[in-house]
Parts: sequence; structure tokens; C-alpha cells
Amino acid sequence: MKGIILHGGHGTRLRPLTHTGPKQLLPIANKPMSQFCLETIVEAGVTDVAIIIGGIGSKKVQEYYQDGKKFGVNITYINQEEPRGIAHAIRLCKEFVNEEKFLVFLGDNIIQKSIIDFVEKFKNSDYDATVLLCEVDNPSRFGIADVKDGKILKITEKPKNPISNLAVTGIYLLTPKIFEIIDNLKPSWRNELEITDALDNLLKQNNNISFEKITDYWKDTGTPDDILHANAEIIKKHPDFSKQHVVNSTGMNLDHIHISGKIILGENYDIGKNVSINGPVIIGNNCKILENTVIGPNVSIGDNSIISVTGIENSIIMQNCKIDAFAKIKDSIIANNSEIKDNSLENLVDSRHVPYKIYLLGEGSKISV
Ligand code: G1P
Repeated sequence: MKGIILHGGHGTRLRPLTHTGPKQLLPIANKPMSQFCLETIVEAGVTDVAIIIGGIGSKKVQEYYQDGKKFGVNITYINQEEPRGIAHAIRLCKEFVNEEKFLVFLGDNIIQKSIIDFVEKFKNSDYDATVLLCEVDNPSRFGIADVKDGKILKITEKPKNPISNLAVTGIYLLTPKIFEIIDNLKPSWRNELEITDALDNLLKQNNNISFEKITDYWKDTGTPDDILHANAEIIKKHPDFSKQHVVNSTGMNLDHIHISGKIILGENYDIGKNVSINGPVIIGNNCKILENTVIGPNVSIGDNSIISVTGIENSIIMQNCKIDAFAKIKDSIIANNSEIKDNSLENLVDSRHVPYKIYLLGEGSKISV
């Protein structure tokens, strides 16, 4: 069984975060989101993975994952020169896949549970494809499956009048049969070769497509809100923090700070007096949290960041950031090497009226008020 991770695209809905790199490398709980995909694939027993790169920051992807050894896999990079769709990207992997069954994972899809049972079942079956479905509130944004009596009847990409709320997630178990189908596909209205069209054609030709349901957490991280949602969820529940120091209100031996909930703290921290940290919160290595700062809930702070803020909640601060603000920052994503200096209102308002601020800052932004 081979694995494929799609790591291309322009991430336009996430600009300015994606001006300097691919969205799939944006961190969720301080880890590039595509690394969660890779780890899920590795856990399912796959040892050969192709990463499809293309567009902004392809080099960064190669620098991060290299040959895959440190993640326990062999990685092959395949370049998709133009973003011509998921089915097009898969078609580029025909030689890599050879005659094997394979698993495709969109690098911006986040799940929490292992898919090992789905993979095993598919391996031992005669299915031509298995898709993973998940119920969603906004079906017009996804590929949607029409399911009756345990069978998929039709798959439609972003239907205007969705027949169900069962989204086809970006995790596909396939056989080489799909390549011939893709060869006969026509581009869609968005000028892409759609995987949903390929799957629907597979159905029309009476092939055997099964489905499994993801009943806990799945998120396509297309927008900043999606990323913040996934960040909060992953910090709360993801067990894979073995190398870090997980503390909670009973386990921490620092009496000058106030903590509650789940806090994941990196090495070499420096936390000032009267700091409050309200989990779920993850703080990377070598971070300084200065006096009187309030952090959380649902916040991640990347390595080497220095934070002094009246309050910060539901936000992602990446690495090497400096924040010194008399403000309550919320629902914000602040990319690597950014600086905010904003104490303009410190003497003007009383502390009950500290202003709320929302930031979406690309790498290296400097704000001084
Ligand atoms: C793509 C697929 C869609 C699927 C979604 C899952 O959508 O085309 O069928 O439901 O991924 O993440 P896109 O992200 O290209 O809008």
C-alpha cells in the first residue's frame, strides 16, 4: 500500500499567511498540519509516501520533510506545475503507485482518530475505492455523497442544493483503476480535474465503492476560522505530546502563576509573576511570558516567542514572535517573526475596558501603534 499527500495549491483564502509558504505547513498545536496527515499514514503501516508539491513554498516542504527518514517513511516528491485539481495530482502518481492499492490524504485535512481499521478493511477487500464521509453543517462547500441503503448512489462536487450533509473528506482509498477514469475526465467549472467526478464515474461504471464514516473530528482547514477551530480541538484532545512536558493545575510547581486546564509547556520557559494560563494552551520551547500576561483558552505559542499581553484567547502565535500589547487579542493568527507593539491605550482606558483586537498577520509583520 502506497501513500500520497497533496501539498500544493495557493491557499488564497488564507492570505497573507500563505504569501510565504504553503498552507499545509501552517502549524496546528505547534506542528505543521500536514505532519498530522503523514503520521496518520505512517501509523496505518504505509512506508512509501509521495508528496505532491507545487506553487508557493515547494522548497520549504522538501526542506521540512526531506527524505522522510525522521518520520519513519521514504518520501518521493512529485511536482504539480499548475494547480489543475486533486484528480490531476493523483494521476501524476501513476508510476509511483504502480500496481498497488493506495491512500490519498489532502494535506489540509485534520482528523484525530487512527484510520488503521479502514485501511486494513480496504486492503483485504475487493473494493475499487473507499471514501471517508463526515456529516457537515455547510455541505455546499464540499463533495457530497448521496447514500441510500448503505450504498453510495452519486457524488457531487459543491452542490448548490445538496441532497445530504455527508461530505466526502479528503481521505481516499483507491486502486490503480482510478487512473484510467482520470484520463477520461473533463475539467470542471473551476478548470480542475475533480476527484469527485472521477469517483462518480467509477460509480457509473458499476465499480464497487464503499464508504466509512468519521464520527468524531474532521476539518478541512480552508479558512482562518477552520484553522483556529482545529488548533483548539487538537490541543484539547491530541495524545501525541509525549516529548513535551504536559502539566495541569495539580502538576505544576510554579506558585507565582495561575493555571487551569490542560497546558503543554515546552522546554526552557521563563514565566513572569502573576501570569495566568487557562488551558487548553500549548507553549513551545524557549518562550518568555512576561508579568501579568493572561493566556488562553485555545492558544498555541510557537518556539522562541516573547509575550506580554493583557489577554489572548483562541489564537495561534507562531515562532519568534514578540508581542507587547495592552489589548485582548482573540481569534488571531500571527505568523513567524512578527512583532506587535501596542501600548497606546494603556493610560487612557481603565482595565475593564481593554480593547479587543483581531489580527491575521503574515510572516515578518511589524505593527507599532
Ligand atoms: C476538495 C474536494 C472536495 C472535498 C474537500 C475535502 O475541495 O474537491 O470534494 O470535500 O476537498 O477537504 P477543495 O478543498 O478543493 O475546495
